[in-house]
Amino acid sequence: MSQPIITFATKPTDKSCLAVILGEGETQSKGFSALDSAVAEEIKSLLSAVGFKATRGKAQLLNRSGGAVVAVGGGDLTTLDTVAMETIAASLYHVTKASGFEALSLDLTGYSAELAAHAVLALHLAAYRFDKYFGQAKLDKAPTLKNINVVCDDVAAAETAYVPLGALREGIVFARDLVSEPANILYPQSYADRVKAYESIGLKVEILGEPEMEKLGMHSLLGVGLGSRKESKLVVMQWLGALDQKAQPVAFVGKGVTFDTGGISIKPAEGMEDMKWDMGGSAAVVGTMVALAGRKAKVNAIGIIGLVENMPDGNAQRPGDVVKAMSGTTIEVINTDAEGRLVLADALWYCQDRFKPQFMIDLATLTGAMIIALGMDYAGVFSNNDELAEKIGEASKSVLENTWRMPLPAQYEKQIDSKIADIRNIGGRPAGSITAALFLQRFVNGTPWAHMDIAPVAWTNEQRIPTVPEGATGFGVRTLNALVAKFYEG
Ligand code: BES
Ligand code: MN
Ligand code: ZN
Repeated sequence: MSQPIITFATKPTDKSCLAVILGEGETQSKGFSALDSAVAEEIKSLLSAVGFKATRGKAQLLNRSGGAVVAVGGGDLTTLDTVAMETIAASLYHVTKASGFEALSLDLTGYSAELAAHAVLALHLAAYRFDKYFGQAKLDKAPTLKNINVVCDDVAAAETAYVPLGALREGIVFARDLVSEPANILYPQSYADRVKAYESIGLKVEILGEPEMEKLGMHSLLGVGLGSRKESKLVVMQWLGALDQKAQPVAFVGKGVTFDTGGISIKPAEGMEDMKWDMGGSAAVVGTMVALAGRKAKVNAIGIIGLVENMPDGNAQRPGDVVKAMSGTTIEVINTDAEGRLVLADALWYCQDRFKPQFMIDLATLTGAMIIALGMDYAGVFSNNDELAEKIGEASKSVLENTWRMPLPAQYEKQIDSKIADIRNIGGRPAGSITAALFLQRFVNGTPWAHMDIAPVAWTNEQRIPTVPEGATGFGVRTLNALVAKFYEG
């Protein structure tokens, strides 16, 4: 895929286009010191002519004969943290990407190595494109910007600070690639194969097929895949990075429905193509495991993803069918389109049964109702454990991913009661996301657990924040990685 080359340097390698960060309300801020004084004066008058305010993330390209300058607003420079630097750098990318310039230098002298490293991460994330199916004519229309160098005081320190962020970037990019792939290319087996390739960085990857899952009694998950020609898979990833390889692990579980037609309860044709990204939860889990292994996180972590394709067929599961989950719980499948919870029921039970983790967090594009409740800017968090929920909230805030805690009221349990089995798989229209979460809770066996319904945020049809271009977002990787880094390492 065509991506710009981004490097650290002590001096601009190409002076045709130079970016500087300017502080709000200041006439003489750090940024100008990178320019010689005559140029600085010229730039100042150009900026005042266009009414430039230095609002954080607002970038202004100034074309001038002696070399272009991009002024990027830094806002209040005393509060410029990693998140602010990411917003600034990513906004800069978008203003310059199609400007005609092939090279850009961003002056970050006077900023820490940590901030310079975050600028590079943000530039990479902003420049992400999924263009592997474009022919030459379309590839030729790619952004003109090919080389970016970030000028900083101590290149070696910046490169060191970037090492863990590079691993995080790889996890996010892998997650975005998986989510972007169409369902004829990415189905349970091909998906599992791609994960298996990451054994090269120290992840242990096991792939369970249908016979193995039959033996374990996973009929809730298996029922979803009955209508598909593709064999369902359960992929188990382990990263054992703690000093004590026997220390209790943390665990992440993901919904990996590689395509969701709804099954016999088939979805309307309009927009059904979106359901190729119904594996976004699993991609976040895989991306997190890749990031943790890549940066050699000092934690034992388990990632489990349930991979199935939900199709209508003569062999497909019917509305009204009763299946028995691995836990022994019987489920009346009222609607075959409420399949994600059926997949997660067995994946969650298997996870706690085999690994006895400190906690489990599942991620899933679980309900359209989550979009109705929160709109497109927030993922919902449901948890049986206040401390875990708070940590997730704190982690997500630090990495530009929005989450919002939702309730799990016991009195709504009656909505998922069944007349013929222990439980049914839908709870009616009221509180649709909550009853889905209550369903999942039946399969965690008291383990501290949180469920993240990422239906609103796994995919975006427009760029809503500068580090996340339109398309697959990779949402969740950053939050889970930050959660581990802040609270579960060392
Ligand atoms: N994958 C969908 C949820 C979804 C919808 C995600 C739109 C992203 C965008 C899920 O499997 C589903 O179909 N849920 C149903 C549940 C209903 C049948 C109780 C829904 O939300 O309509
Ligand atoms: Mn569905
Ligand atoms: Zn689904």
